[in-house]
Amino acid sequence: AAPTRYEAENASIAQGVVESNHAGFSGTGFVNYDNAVGSSVLFSVDAASAGSAALTIRYANGTAVNRPMDVVVNGTVVADERAFNGTGTWTTWQQTVVNANLVAGTNTIRAVATTANGGPNLDYVDVEFTPAATDYQA
Ligand code: GCU
Repeated sequence: AAPTRYEAENASIAQGVVESNHAGFSGTGFVNYDNAVGSSVLFSVDAASAGSAALTIRYANGTAVNRPMDVVVNGTVVADERAFNGTGTWTTWQQTVVNANLVAGTNTIRAVATTANGGPNLDYVDVEFTPAATDYQA
């Protein structure tokens, strides 16, 4: 199935602000995390049925220092201190992909900074369900 995009500027932001001063983002802006441990962005994702999904996270980090974040799905860490390395400039956006199991109904996906530098600038999360394997005969 095609991915569904969840823009960071429409998510629930704890310790961060929506900005649009660095070009190349999707939607109307991005989230600039506060430079603090625990700054976070929370996405609510509705799933018609349970299954595994690829979470594609787009970000920019114009510094030379990694800004790791935990990716937490329904309260469980699915990517522990995932690296969000420097992308060269604040207008250079890159992606990292995390796989997670989602439940039917409402899921929460939270990306939380684990160092005092806070998170990178966050553009969106694309959620794409993995197709179920089907029986076939060659
Ligand atoms: C700069 C940059 C911001 C970024 C911030 C940071 O101020 O313009 O977009 O979020 O650095 O280091 O977090």
